[in-house]
Amino acid sequence: MNTQTPIETRLEAFRERWSGKVGKMLIGGEWREAQSGETFSTEDPATGEKLADVASGGQADVDAAVAAARAAFEGPWSKVKPDERARLINKLADLIEANGEELALTETLDVGRPIQFSRMADVGGAIGQLRYQAGWATKIQGETNEISAPGEWLSYVLREPVGVVGQIVPWNFPLAMAAAKLGPALAAGCTVVLKPAEQTPLSTIRLGELALEAGIPEGVVNVVTGYGRTAGAMLASHMDVDKIAFTGSTQTGRAIIEASKTNFKRISLELGGKSPTFIFADADLKKAIPAAAMGIFFNAGQVCAAGSRLFVAEEVADQVLEGIAGMAKMLRVGHTLDPETIIGPLVSEQQLDRVTGYIESGRQEGATVLVGGGRKEGPGWFVEPTVLVDTEANMKVRREEIFGPVLCAHRFTDADDADRLARMGNETEFGLAASIWTRDISMAHKLARRLKAGSIRINGSGGVDPALPLGGYKSSGWGRENGKAGIDAYTELKAVSVALD
Ligand code: NAI
Ligand code: MG
Repeated sequence: MNTQTPIETRLEAFRERWSGKVGKMLIGGEWREAQSGETFSTEDPATGEKLADVASGGQADVDAAVAAARAAFEGPWSKVKPDERARLINKLADLIEANGEELALTETLDVGRPIQFSRMADVGGAIGQLRYQAGWATKIQGETNEISAPGEWLSYVLREPVGVVGQIVPWNFPLAMAAAKLGPALAAGCTVVLKPAEQTPLSTIRLGELALEAGIPEGVVNVVTGYGRTAGAMLASHMDVDKIAFTGSTQTGRAIIEASKTNFKRISLELGGKSPTFIFADADLKKAIPAAAMGIFFNAGQVCAAGSRLFVAEEVADQVLEGIAGMAKMLRVGHTLDPETIIGPLVSEQQLDRVTGYIESGRQEGATVLVGGGRKEGPGWFVEPTVLVDTEANMKVRREEIFGPVLCAHRFTDADDADRLARMGNETEFGLAASIWTRDISMAHKLARRLKAGSIRINGSGGVDPALPLGGYKSSGWGRENGKAGIDAYTELKAVSVALD
């Protein structure tokens, strides 16, 4: 299948694969239903149509998956050389590429993402991640250290894989995030139990199939599907899991910290955000306006690093807000299989209720709806791209992560006071990302230094790059994914000292 294959044929193949079937779990190289026999269903958020039933993993399944991962870690996987691990990760990337159109369709239907973005963000993102991470497998280094103890010593530090890793992925970019977690874990020599979100399990099941097809040994990659409060929580508290890598809400991040206390497992957390975009009067508005609009409307705002707060200089505020409002009206909101669609639905009715609830709370607290403001009628969980103006720092919509296409705008004066602007930017509990648009390079760098945010873009936009550390200050998380920090997060250090006398 490729982009030339008629959509009907592709849909037919998708239904053939999933309809009336039970999506199974990958445990020790075998596909199994839940030992309890329980299942849950996953839907297409654009229509509400059920796509498939999926195994609902419980304690027995989590135990079996962890045992399989442990056996592979202590056994065959520990003998696989770094260059072979790199080859296997690259092979998985090749298989994702070869099956790209099918995977894009799967994401579009299961997540509710416009097809053009499933190709780019999910399939393209997953391939890019795996190829980047594969390179690390052969570049993991320890060190030698001179110590001061009497006598002659050889001291060195080994960098070892951390062990069995539980990876808990959210529903907004299931395939790309699963790949971003799997890649460094495998490169470092870990084994994995991957748990996709209950809203979007299908592409992770396919990823498990492709991992086996790539020749990754049994038990190295396990997939447990199920609810967060059951399968996810069981993984997080499991005594034989050495590390949890989690992306999702700050609230669930806290639950994972609690659960990890059982055995002091290592944790990396990539959590929510409330990221600011600053547009100064001297900015290139032709670029800044569409970037600010897409920074919040892309993926219907369901992006951890979404630019959800806009601080715009008074001098250009009318022009910028009109421009963004114009885009909000123009961007095609619609069915995700329509190649022209830019904005799809939210992932679930629950998210729809959350987001419309926030818009309502904004109204009640005195914000003005400049454009949008509610649900788009009809089937599916669509929300209109929305801009709230006259928002103040103490409003709920300015403090909490909405995770929908809702921009909260605020005008600023005193554009030369970097300290004050940074205080505005830093006024939430989060610290994930920020964007700055100005031609004043001193101001751009001064503000970048002062903002408490893990990723900052100046005069440009774009998605995650696997070469750059990704993560947050404050309540946006612990640790970093990607880059060198991302691979190090899957390792333990061991200091070895040999007395030579
Ligand atoms: P969530 O954080 O509860 O879900 C994310 C993942 O965690 C899913 O795989 C889920 O099954 C799992 N999970 C849930 N509870 C768990 C527990 N106690 N132990 C272990 N795993 C658990 O997010 P949810 O409820 O789907 O969405 C709520 C809000 O979270 C969103 O409105 C958004 O604000 C935020 N969120 C942020 C994301 C990000 O990319 N930073 C992604 C998804 C949600
Ligand atoms: Mg779904």
